[in-house]
Amino acid sequence: MQGTKIVLYSLVAGLFLSFIGCTKDKVGFGGTPNCTDTISFNHEVLPIIQAHCSGCHGSGNSTGYTLEDYNSISTNASAVLGSMKGNGYQLMPIGGPGLPDSVIQKVECWMFQGKKDN
Ligand code: HEC
Repeated sequence: MQGTKIVLYSLVAGLFLSFIGCTKDKVGFGGTPNCTDTISFNHEVLPIIQAHCSGCHGSGNSTGYTLEDYNSISTNASAVLGSMKGNGYQLMPIGGPGLPDSVIQKVECWMFQGKKDN
């Protein structure tokens, strides 16, 4: 009997955990990002932000974050990455779905490589 109970409890716990896993979109990848290429701010990061963020975060917007050029993006880099992952910040683009992991990883690698203005 004891064994059956344990099996049942772990089944329930497993289901519960996978349920949580599905309801929460985008959590950090964890660890050091695997960055094989040097990321270019001008050719990779800026176009990502312009395509997905600047529409609502252009100058004069009321969200509290202006994201449109090197200075504004590099100054707010942790908030940008945190919001793309929904990690410590509200998930962005607002309302979801989050951007693909491969896109987020470019921003993460750019930060990891020292936020170059390249
Ligand atoms: C459709 C409009 C829209 C888009 C697109 C959008 N945002 Fe936002 N963002 C908002 C609004 C509105 C707020 C303020 C939300 C609030 O106060 O509840 C916000 C808030 C934020 C915040 C602060 C969140 C917090 O928890 O403090 C960050 C950081 C942010 N956005 C970054 C981004 C990034 C990066 C992108 C692109 C991946 C993006 N946003 C795309 C509308 C948008």
